[in-house]
Parts: sequence; structure tokens; C-alpha cells
Amino acid sequence: MASYIGSATSRIDGRAKVTGEAKYAGEFNVAGLVHGYVVDSAIPKGRIVRIDTSGALGVAGVIDVLTHRNRPQMADKDDAYKDEAAPEKGSPYRPLYDDRILFSGQPLALVLAEDWETARVAASLVKIEYQKEPHVTDLQAERAKAFAIDKPEKPRGDAGKAFASAAVRHAAEYFIPTEHHNPMELFASTVIWDNGQLTVYDKTQGVQNVQQYLCGVFKMKADEVRVMSPYMGGGFGSGLRPQYQVVLAALAARALKRPVRVMLSRAQMYALGHRPASIERLALGANSGGTLEAMTHEAIAVTSQFEEFARNDTGWGNLLYKTPNAKFEHTLVKLDVPTSCDMRAPGAATGVYALECAMDELAVALKTDPVQLRLQCYSDRDQGGDIPYTSKQLRECYRQGAAAFGWDKRKAEPRSMREGNDLVGWGMASGVWEALQMPTTVRIVLTANGHAEVATAASDIGTGTYTIMAQVAADMLGLPIDNISVKLGDSTLPQCPLEGGSWIASSVCNAIANTARAVRDDLLKLAIGMKDSPLAGAGVDDVALIDGKIVSKRDAAHAVSIASAMQAGNADRITREEANKVAEDKSHARNVHSAIFAEVKVDEQLGVIRVTRVVNAVAAGRILNPKTAHSQVMGGVVWGIGMALHEETLFDHRYGRVMNANIAEYHVPVNADVHDIKVIFVDEPDQIVNPLGIKGLGEIGIVGVAAAIANAVYHATGKRVRDLPITLDKVV
Ligand code: MOS
Repeated sequence: MASYIGSATSRIDGRAKVTGEAKYAGEFNVAGLVHGYVVDSAIPKGRIVRIDTSGALGVAGVIDVLTHRNRPQMADKDDAYKDEAAPEKGSPYRPLYDDRILFSGQPLALVLAEDWETARVAASLVKIEYQKEPHVTDLQAERAKAFAIDKPEKPRGDAGKAFASAAVRHAAEYFIPTEHHNPMELFASTVIWDNGQLTVYDKTQGVQNVQQYLCGVFKMKADEVRVMSPYMGGGFGSGLRPQYQVVLAALAARALKRPVRVMLSRAQMYALGHRPASIERLALGANSGGTLEAMTHEAIAVTSQFEEFARNDTGWGNLLYKTPNAKFEHTLVKLDVPTSCDMRAPGAATGVYALECAMDELAVALKTDPVQLRLQCYSDRDQGGDIPYTSKQLRECYRQGAAAFGWDKRKAEPRSMREGNDLVGWGMASGVWEALQMPTTVRIVLTANGHAEVATAASDIGTGTYTIMAQVAADMLGLPIDNISVKLGDSTLPQCPLEGGSWIASSVCNAIANTARAVRDDLLKLAIGMKDSPLAGAGVDDVALIDGKIVSKRDAAHAVSIASAMQAGNADRITREEANKVAEDKSHARNVHSAIFAEVKVDEQLGVIRVTRVVNAVAAGRILNPKTAHSQVMGGVVWGIGMALHEETLFDHRYGRVMNANIAEYHVPVNADVHDIKVIFVDEPDQIVNPLGIKGLGEIGIVGVAAAIANAVYHATGKRVRDLPITLDKVV
């Protein structure tokens, strides 16, 4: 039987998704459903003096309006979010908690009505009187107030001194604006109330996380709340934390003892977490031989007034480039905005953008080819921990990426390549991300008819988790993939972490392998118990499951069909639940890498920039499904185009409000912006990272892409634009 692992398998949930059979959190309908519409704050800071809900309550069909004055009880304390490694476990912020206004767009009232349009109209009639207070929303204006936070990247040597005496130096500041995730699906929660029990359909990347969070907020017992999220229309990190609409929907359902749905508007999505604006300062010093002597990376990023949220922007250079002297600093500025959150490759998308532009500028200063410079500075060790990698095929990424792109035909001089009115630019960058694994339990139920159900409380945020789970289970159980059904997105299923950090593939699939081994063990015991068993004396690792049979690895003629083993043992099913083993071993760095090559064409008169070609060569361990993996990386590249050229959440700082809170004015790439994208997966066997050699690739696709494009724009135009996005006004 052909192996499913490694084959380009189409999504097993594809049909459900394109036919509408797949239901999303805001699509679960029940009789008597109450619709909630959020009234949000028009000011960024101050207090609510008065809320007049009489107009809204006078509308026929309105059931109630909840505000901080009349809301039911909720717990005021929640320290789970203070876990620095896992702030998504909660939030210090409670909707409708009190009269304080902490950011523009903050929910201040929830209008509940018999239908959605009624709730929406009535919401427009809620009158709020504010007591305004001075606010700050501009990072550049507030940067002097930045304070350092404790981050693990320790200094090496004396970067300041080494930089000062370096033969060739480059120092500059790069800027990344606030960006929003903009998933297609709006945040929504449908909460079914049944005699105090809550069934919650939520848009989330972690059903068990939301379940635990709601239990904390409402002091409910674990078995009183069930959270489901079978499908998700894009998350990208925005659904890692429980969002406030799930609290509001649960609050209202408990108050009304009725089912309630709360769905946010597109504009309200801009008052959630986001990629924080950041200023990244890089200082690189090289000796005349073209290797690094000093690296300093300092980030100034935004957080809210009520919470310190930060990711690693600055440490990535330790993983890529060898240098004896290095210094890293991460500082935060508190603004009157919602707390930022993880957004695809948080920290790396921004930090590596700056690092890789700086390396390009250093290459220019050294008159060295940018790929050559990276090879000269290549680090075979993670210098932070001074440890080797489980695997690192980045050299091969550079080689294969450059070959596929035709990099050897590049003329070094800026503005030296043309095509009619267009200046042609070629740029490149490196990418790096983590290869993590988290504790996960998987249940397999194998029935005598040769069907298996594989279950864990994962979410499939659109990445293809359903499909890889089926592929791996089919291989491990020796069954055709059509005989596998996958269950996920339900908090009552076996324990699974959030779908984030690119760790779900490695975590879930290694857990499937362990559970499948346990199933095989059970089957083998049944087979051995048979009279004159051809498998007598075999151990669990001496046999494999192939084509519905338990087969001796030593002699394939020694085999027992699964059906007859189960029949002999009088079993109609085998149920096992096992976890993966997460290595405590700190002796190796676990990372994925990439090399990105981009071509831009810039209209010399108009400044219009088109990204005409991108090659992204990725080394991410074993690729389970080249088709869905290709889609992941291609999507990352498209997002990188948006980051480089389009995306920017714009504030009117006078009012402290987002001006472009819609996808007409918050620009993301459309089909016309996306041309030729080639994805290469570099072979990277890895025996150390985890038993199946899986590294994950949800996030690596975006890392470095904006830098490669920015470097290409420089090569085309001779103009170095360090502030994203690179809009045409910055290059003409
Ligand atoms: Mo990802 S930012 O961990 O969803």
C-alpha cells in the first residue's frame, strides 16, 4: 500500500468547505436564538459617565441591553495570562467590567434582540456620555518612554566596542506599522444554554483554552462548559486568546437562559489583538574579510496600558549569523490601544524583516553578494545556547532557491536591470522559525469493520490538520485513508494545545504514532492469542499494520487480518489514548529555515511596485503533505507581499482611533498583486527533533519575505525604504 505521509493529499474536509456543509461559529442556528450586537467606545481613554439605553430598549424585538451597570457577575481576577510563555491562557481585560475606557472600539454595551438587524439598529440608539482623558496612540511620539523587559537573549562579548572598531559598519532603524490579522471569518460565538450547561460554538484556535477560560470567568465546573470549533475561517494568531465576544455571549446566555450569538462587525475586529507597531534598530559591524564582528538588535514595540505583551523580535540573529559580540534589547511603549497579540510568526516577521534588510545593507557596504555574505556568516550553532541544531539545511535553501530563481544572472549595481519603463530589482533574505512540540493526547477507536476514528481537541484553522491526521493515521494503522475519520475542535476530546506556533503537526502526529502503536499492541495480543498464531512470539515492534493485516516485519507471510484478530478476541473495537513524548532535552536547537528570492518591477515614472516572482525554499523537516504544505508557504509569501507593500493600520492620533477599519482601506494583496510564487521544500531528514521528524511550517512562509521584497526594491530603484509598507510615494 502506498504511503500517505509525504503524498500530495487533497483536503479531506475540502468538499464540506466548498459546499457549505462545514459550519462556522456564527452559523449554528437553534430555535429561539438571541442576537447580540456590541456597542463600542468612540474614544480611546476616559470614563463612561452615562449610558442611555432607553432608545434601544424601546425598539420592538429588543430583549435587553447589558452594560457595566447591570451585567451579571463575572470573576474579576485572572492571572493565567501572566504566564509569559502562554499569555493566550486568558486576559486581564473583561468586557463590560466597569466604567473605564482603555481603547477605542472597546465594547461598552451589548444589545440583545430577537434578530440581528434589530439588535444592530437598536445599538445605534444607545447614547453614551464620556469623560475624556488625554490619550496616546503614536509609537514614534512616545518612544522615549520605552521601558526594557526581561528577555532571554543574553549579550555576548562587547557589541558596542566591536561595532565601533569594525572595518565596515551599518546601523539603521526599521519600522513596521500596526497590522491586523483580517481573517475572512468574523469573530463570533454561539452559546446554547441548557439548564445551566453551556455549549459554545466559538471561533478559536483552542477549544480547551476557551473552555478553561470561561470556567474561570463564570466560576463554572469543567463539565458545565463544552466548547466546539470544528472549522475556522482563518486565525493567524487572532484566535489564540479567547476573544471578548465569547464572554459576552456566555454572559447573555446565562442571564437570559436562552441561546445567544454575538458576532463582531469587520470594524470591531480592529479593536482586537494585532501585530504591534515596532521600531527595530540594527547595528552590524563586519571585518574587511566580510564576517560579522558585532550585532546589536533593539526593538521598541507597542503594548497596551493594562498588559505587557511581547514576543521575541531580536534574538533571531543568534540562529542565523556567527558573531562573537552581540547584544539584544526589547523595550515596550504603553499606548491606549488593545493589547497586541500573536500574528503569524510573531516577533520573527518583524525582527527578521529588520535583520535581513540590515544584512542586505551590510552586503552593499561590503560590495559582497547578499547570498555570499550570508554564507560567510553562516552559523552552524544556535549561539544563544551555544548548541547545535537537530538539523539545519539552510545552506541548501540558499543553493536551491538561488538556482531556481536564476540569482547568478543578477547584476550587483542598483538600477542596472531594466525592462521598458520598469526598473527590475532582485533581492533575497533568510527566514527562521521554531520547530516546537507540545503535550498532546490522541484517541483512536478501531472497529472490526476496519474503520478508525482519530480524535484530539485540536483546531484546524485552515491549515489542513484534518487531512494530515488522516494521512498519518492511515499509514500507521495500515488502512485506506477513506476508512479514517477525524474528530477535532471539541473541548471534550483528548487534551490538545492551541493550534499555534507551528507545533500542531509535530505534536498531533507524534501522538497519533504512539496511539497507533498501542492499538497495534492490542491487536497483536489478540492475534497471538489465536490458535497456532503465525505471529506467536512477536513483539509490538516486530509487526506492522499493512493493508488491514498485522504483518511480521521479518516475514510478510506471517500475518493475521485485523478482522480475524478482533473476532478471535471477541472484540468489536479497540480504543486507545496515548500522548506524544515532548523532549526535555535542551542540547539541540529546534528550528526551521528558509531562503527567499524576490523580483520586483518598479515603474520608473509612477513608482508602482509589482512583485513579479518569488522563490521560497524552505527546510522544515519531514513534509507530511506537499499540497497543503505548499499552500501554507504560498499563503505566507502572499502575506509577505502585503507586509512589504500594502498593510498598515492607520491611526488618527488626534482621536486615537483606527481610520481604515475595513478591508477596503486596509489593503491586503489581491489576485492581481500576486504573480509567480515557487515553493521549494528542501530535503531535511531529522532523527532528533521528534520521532517522525516533523518540524511544522505554519509560520515560516512569511518570515523574511518582506525583507526580500524590500531588498529587491532597493536593487531596482537605489532607494532604501526602511519603513513598511513600501508604498509608491516612498520610491518616486
Ligand atoms: Mo500562530 S501566530 O501561533 O496562530
